[in-house]
Amino acid sequence: MHAALDEFPLGQRMPGTNWVVRGVLGAGGMGVVLDVEKESTGLRMAMKVVRPAYAQSADFVARFSEEVRVLARLRHPNIVEVTDGDILADGSPYIMMERLEGRTLREAIADPRLTITAENLWTLVEQLTQALHCAHMESIVHRDVKPANVFLDNRRNFASSVKLIDFGVSAMLDGQRAPGAAIGTTRYMAPEACAGEAPTPQVDIYALGIMVYEVLTKTLPWDVDTRDVQAVMRAHMKDEPIAVSRRVPWIPPSVDACLLQALSKDPRKRQKNVLAFSAQLAELRLADDGSGNHHTDGVTVPTAATLARGRILSSFSPKPPHTPPDDAPTRIDASARRRLGSAGARAGDRR
Ligand SMILES: Nc1ncnc2c1ncn2[C@@H]1O[C@H](COP(=O)(O)OP(=O)(O)O)[C@@H](O)[C@H]1O
Ligand SMILES: [Mg+2]
Repeated sequence: MHAALDEFPLGQRMPGTNWVVRGVLGAGGMGVVLDVEKESTGLRMAMKVVRPAYAQSADFVARFSEEVRVLARLRHPNIVEVTDGDILADGSPYIMMERLEGRTLREAIADPRLTITAENLWTLVEQLTQALHCAHMESIVHRDVKPANVFLDNRRNFASSVKLIDFGVSAMLDGQRAPGAAIGTTRYMAPEACAGEAPTPQVDIYALGIMVYEVLTKTLPWDVDTRDVQAVMRAHMKDEPIAVSRRVPWIPPSVDACLLQALSKDPRKRQKNVLAFSAQLAELRLADDGSGNHHTDGVTVPTAATLARGRILSSFSPKPPHTPPDDAPTRIDASARRRLGSAGARAGDRR
């Protein structure tokens, strides 16, 4: 049984709330995402509960409330909708979100039966950049852009769409503190973030660059053992990326150039903003990835000509299975953890 189910028994109410636990949607280091239902109305939502261990520092609750306030302000079709947040009787903070259906991009790219076509990838990036642009305009940096935090939502009666989730380590741009603490996921971490510098929107552009590169090539832009966290960090900070076209010949030069720019070591040399990134990537949309088919899970889907903007489609492909990336969030080093107190990354983000 899922460990989380021991703590949150199915069919029972979360103490002090009207929400009955129907299942576990996901679990991470800091908490668990529950499928919950309000019995009186049948309304289903997702409830992200932070483990009490992370909520013990004196001002954590105040910061958490501020974070909920910030997230609740973010209204965008490509950002998961946060509707509320509060503290449970045992002191665990929680966030209520719309409950998405589908799977994460991480799961999708690990599925050997599915390939995301070049055109679909572009559509995905386009939606993600719209979401990030909205956050950046509100002075929020996501800081943990990666396939596991990109949800491919395909609820019935909805156009399938990309939802950016997990703003758990996001920071208000002007309130950022805790220098020296690397926060994020090593595989997607910008050089300046590896060095513990305060994040700017440029770290999200860098992560997008790594992510697009990964979807296209199934690997990182260096010949590096991806399980070796130190080696990956070194590569981010020191090694020149291998152009994506050297690994995937059909990539147009403009896409090559776009990714290389996004992966610049110097954040000032990257695209000025996420919209510039997606504009530069536009030729990907027209690139022929040679897949030649447009079927998804046995259902015929529209051809490129009728492809609705915003739809994420996948096509079967005989490509070899892909091992899921190791993308567990990076642990913060001991000294940083001391500075941050027991609340860890979340608490250390903004003060
Ligand atoms: N609103 C949601 N609806 C459905 N599933 C969700 C939702 N939010 C998160 N999940 C699932 O839970 C997992 C963990 O959520 P996330 O917010 O990324 O937390 P963590 O901080 O643990 O990474 C996600 O990868 C996803 O599978
Ligand atoms: Mg996550």
